[in-house]
Amino acid sequence: REFGRFGPLIGAVDEGTSNVKFLVFAANTSEVLTYHQISLKRFSPQEGWIEQDALEILNAVLECIEVTIDNLRKLDINPEDVVGIGITNQRETTIVWNSVTGQPLYSAIVWLDVRTSSIVDDLIKTKGAQCINAVTQTSGLPLSTYFSSVKLKWLLQNVSAVKDSVKAGECMAGTVDSWLIWNLTGGSHGGTHVTDVTNASRTQLMSLRSLQWDKGLLRFFDIPIQILPKIKSSAEIYGYISTGSLLGVPIAGCLGDQQAALVGQGCMRFGQVKCTYGTGCFLLYNTGDSIIHSQQGLLTTVAYKLGQDAPPVYALEGSVAIAGDTLQWLRDGLELITDVRDTEALAGEVTDDEDGSICFVPAFNGLYAPHWRKDARGVMCGLSGKTRREHVVRAAFDSVCHQTRCVATAMAADVAPLRRLLADGGMAQNTVLMQMQADILGIPVIRPLMMESTALGAAIVAGRALRVWPTSTPCPPADTFLPVTTSEEREIKRVRWEEALNRCMAWVS
Ligand code: G3P
Repeated sequence: REFGRFGPLIGAVDEGTSNVKFLVFAANTSEVLTYHQISLKRFSPQEGWIEQDALEILNAVLECIEVTIDNLRKLDINPEDVVGIGITNQRETTIVWNSVTGQPLYSAIVWLDVRTSSIVDDLIKTKGAQCINAVTQTSGLPLSTYFSSVKLKWLLQNVSAVKDSVKAGECMAGTVDSWLIWNLTGGSHGGTHVTDVTNASRTQLMSLRSLQWDKGLLRFFDIPIQILPKIKSSAEIYGYISTGSLLGVPIAGCLGDQQAALVGQGCMRFGQVKCTYGTGCFLLYNTGDSIIHSQQGLLTTVAYKLGQDAPPVYALEGSVAIAGDTLQWLRDGLELITDVRDTEALAGEVTDDEDGSICFVPAFNGLYAPHWRKDARGVMCGLSGKTRREHVVRAAFDSVCHQTRCVATAMAADVAPLRRLLADGGMAQNTVLMQMQADILGIPVIRPLMMESTALGAAIVAGRALRVWPTSTPCPPADTFLPVTTSEEREIKRVRWEEALNRCMAWVS
């Protein structure tokens, strides 16, 4: 068919922990034509519990799609040129719903939630699982509050509506992608209950080799297979949108948000690494067709599978729980700042080694990679009468950069040292942070001018499935931040950070 001046268009739902976005890309050029964004609320009914409203997530997606399509009309672009959409989402967050009523049976339990801490302890003790690595060979993941397995176990054990709906054969479970695809394709009137390999690889219930739900893992966590979605590749048609302005448009791509950013950054070859600075921050190292088991506390995960018959590509991942969230805490928790955008200027006003500078480890809900200490808690070290809010803000930036460095060091020990780091995500807009990251890592940090890498990745996989996205695209324009530190300076900073890190782990013992 004939298309308008931008050729075929692909939409991307980017459902992150903090925001939902819907963007429209021109497939021929990767250009973003328009988008709409809505912030999401989080609830904490008890210490360490973090929930979201599954219906709020769904409605935000629907609203973002409608407003964006309306924007297209205003730009005199025909919405019918949108030939497909891709979905990318916060991973591990777990939703259960009733297949007949379509209603969620409980709030979405967010990846950061640590209510499952005692379940993790019990599994380690009672199942003969000697250590946190009891199921790592099959799933690629350690026992941790982070993954969907224990969240689902908690829901099945503690929520009577969930127990009843399982008995009635009406329970559906999944990560956010499954919830969205099921609803967008018709919900209780014939919606498809599917997930993709990348999201499934974060449930801790899928075998990395077979790419299917693993009987041993299901038995270990006591999860009934019938409530789980079908596992599909990351690039194929899962179903067609059943409502709204995109009625009849295929959903043709799905990736967890960190894997989507890997694709969006063009890290499609062995050894290429990206870091996305969002609510948390996540480094992924493309390991091609090799399933590499880390000796350093990194996760093994599926990076993507570009079609039903395409081979899976794997990645090593270093997940850092708290990155951008630190700045939100400075604003909402400490009320030290009124606008997160002010932090760049504040951090730039002081240096790391002047009087008043501090070291801050934001282990609010424990530490993820490479430490996996759910009992660790945050510390600020070195406070003096000279410490001002500028020092606290700079220390928050420093904490993101050092946690990234810890993961990069683990990657170097497992595979090979990083030669450069591709950066993206909301917090990467911050130029002071990017320079600090280059200085702390001692390698160039490269930030594309178009920073919506996560959404781009979802659009690419959908566009490839529909054969409208070019197979090779030119390198996108980018800013490069070169390190200006010596190795001695980096070593002094590393030792200081390690000191603070030890204290945050010693806090609980
Ligand atoms: O694993 C959690 C991750 O997918 C969340 O990403 O972008 O919301 O920080 P983000």
